[in-house]
Amino acid sequence: MGHEFKEDLHLTSEQEFFSKFTHSWQGGYFEGNPLDPMATSGYGIYGYNSCLYTVYLTCIRNHVHSDSTVLEIGPGRGAWTKAFLERECSHVYVVDAAAAEQTGFWDYIGTTSHVTYIQSADLMLSDVPDASIDHFFSFGVFCHLKPQMCEKYLNSLVRKMRSGSHGFLMIADYDKYNYCIAHADQLSIKRAFGSRKVWLLARLAYILNWKIFRSKTDLQGVSKNDDLDVSRDATTRWYHWGIDRACEALTREGFKIVERDMEIVSRDPVIHFVKP
Ligand SMILES: C[S@@+](CC[C@H](N)C(=O)[O-])C[C@H]1O[C@@H](n2cnc3c(N)ncnc32)[C@H](O)[C@@H]1O
Repeated sequence: MGHEFKEDLHLTSEQEFFSKFTHSWQGGYFEGNPLDPMATSGYGIYGYNSCLYTVYLTCIRNHVHSDSTVLEIGPGRGAWTKAFLERECSHVYVVDAAAAEQTGFWDYIGTTSHVTYIQSADLMLSDVPDASIDHFFSFGVFCHLKPQMCEKYLNSLVRKMRSGSHGFLMIADYDKYNYCIAHADQLSIKRAFGSRKVWLLARLAYILNWKIFRSKTDLQGVSKNDDLDVSRDATTRWYHWGIDRACEALTREGFKIVERDMEIVSRDPVIHFVKP
C-alpha cells in the first residue's frame, strides 16, 4: 500500500515536471546552428574550440588505439606526436627534415621507446617499414612542400600503409585560404564580437582595433601565381597544391578519399583517406 502511494506521488511529480516544458520556449528552443562553424550560442564565449583541438578529436582520438602504429611526417617539436602517445599507441614513426636537436623533439616528448625519430633528406620514407602503418597524419608540413614533392611523398606513403589504414593530411589550398580571410566576419573569432551579448564598449573597442590594426594582426590574401610567402618567412614559404590536385594524386596512388576536406579548419583543408 505504502509502496503504491509512493509510486503515485512519483508519477504526479513527473507529470508536473514534464508539464513545465509544454509551455516553455515558445517556437522551440534554438541553441544555435550546428552547421555554422562560428555560430553564437548560449555557451557565449565558452562556445568555441581551438581548431587544433578539433583536429585532435576528429583525426586522432577515435582513430588511434593501443594497437596502432602511426606515421607522422614533419612533427616539429612533437605537439601531435604527444597526442598519439597520449592515446597509448603502439609505436610512432616520425620523419622530419630537421634533426631532433633542432626541433627540441625529445625535450618536449620525453624519453620513450614508443617513438622512432627519422631525420630525412628525401621523400622515400625508406626507414619506415613497408605495410606497417595503421594511421598516417601530417599537419602543417605539405603546405611547405612543392606539389611535385607532395606527390612523390604519396608515392612512398602508399607502400608504408597497411590495407584498411587511415590517413589525415592537411594541405595548402589558396582558394580556401583566401575565402576564409575574405569572410573573417563569418569564419573568425571576430564573429563573437558581433554578438549582441557582448558589452557595447568592448565591441566598439574591438571594431576600432580591427580597423586600425587588422593589417598587422590578420593574415593577408595569397596569390597562386606569385606563390607568396604566407608564413612571412622566405625559408619556410607555402605552396598552393589545392584540394582537387591533392585528391587526384591520392586517388592515382590507389588511396580512397573518405572526405576531400573534413572542414575542421576554416582556413586549410584536411583530407581523410584510406588505403583499401
Ligand atoms: C610548420 S612545422 C609543423 C610541425 C608540426 N607538424 C605541427 O603542426 O606542430 C613543419 C615541419 O615540417 C618539417 N619538414 C619540412 N619539410 C619536410 C619534409 N620534406 N619532410 C619531413 N618534414 C619536413 C619541418 O622541419 C618542420 O618540423
